Amino acid sequence: MKLPSNVNIVEVGPRDGLQAEARFIPTSKKIELVDALSRTGLRKIEVTSFVHPKAIPQLRDAREVLSGIQKRPGITYSVLIPNIRGAEMAIEFGVDEIRIPVCASETVNQRNVRMSIDESLESAGKIHGLAQEAEIPLEVAVALAFGCPFEGEILPEKVISMIGRLHDTGITRVSITDPAGIANPAQVRELTELLLETFPDTAFSLHLHDTRGLGLSCVLAALEAGLTAFDTSIGGLGGCPFVPEATGNIVTEDLVNMLEEMGISTGIDLQELIRCSELAQDIVGRSLGSRILKAGTREQLFQSVAAGT
Ligand code: COA
Ligand code: ZN
Repeated sequence: MKLPSNVNIVEVGPRDGLQAEARFIPTSKKIELVDALSRTGLRKIEVTSFVHPKAIPQLRDAREVLSGIQKRPGITYSVLIPNIRGAEMAIEFGVDEIRIPVCASETVNQRNVRMSIDESLESAGKIHGLAQEAEIPLEVAVALAFGCPFEGEILPEKVISMIGRLHDTGITRVSITDPAGIANPAQVRELTELLLETFPDTAFSLHLHDTRGLGLSCVLAALEAGLTAFDTSIGGLGGCPFVPEATGNIVTEDLVNMLEEMGISTGIDLQELIRCSELAQDIVGRSLGSRILKAGTREQLFQSVAAGT
């Protein structure tokens, strides 16, 4: 089994996670969480979204959060935007990077951004032009690439054709997302191999939710296929607006623990992450899905055995 020596992890909890909270998290708490995450060695954090406050009221304080955080050199603070209006606002604000979601499901794309897939792809091309002028990097998230709660199977051909259209407009950074937690490792391996082979000049990342407990095994399958960039959320914060019982993303600290134990470097300090996970639990007022927070690391286990506790 050939595995990479380094992996890039993007923390999306402040955006993907907090947008799913039932109650509005105070701006100061969001800032505290992002600042704590900035101290862990993470190199990219998706902070918030420039979206309509009626669509995602939990992130209506995007500007305040971005203005309040202590930006550290070497860290990219990215935002999600659904359309040209959002892109204009993000560019005017001067964000570090933008990410545009385009769903591979017509039904969900309509519900999410009130555009057809065609319209969203066209809009992504236009936003790419605006972002290039402003010298702001852009990534497109092709969402529901492994299946849709409303439409069922999403065929790889459809995902390839969408990425092909993005590629034609010059977009070569793509995140493949599974907000409903539908993917299994065999499917991830197959699609990842296909994508890396078809678009050798595109930088791909994978955005998994752990709804069915398959998140980390899907990461392993993607690593074996040659993919080295993953989105995660601290404590596994989050859900999915279209799947009532969905859990959040794969857990940042659990993935870092797994990779570092396997000798794959993430550049992230696990103990600092565990402190962030405790903070995230305090902020949302409940226990989250982190395994490493509950069970401790392997080293801690060995120490407690040695101490006879
Ligand atoms: N941010 C803030 N306001 C926005 C906006 C954005 N990104 N895009 C549009 N608007 C405003 C317009 O300015 C307009 O305001 P007005 O009524 O005061 O004039 C109003 O929304 C309607 O504009 P329109 O272009 O017709 O948008 P819409 O009604 O088709 O709504 C979205 C589309 C994109 C605004 C809405 O679906 C959205 O924000 N979705 C969020 C998607 C999301 O983040 N999902 C979760 C993560 S994938
Ligand atoms: Zn997500």
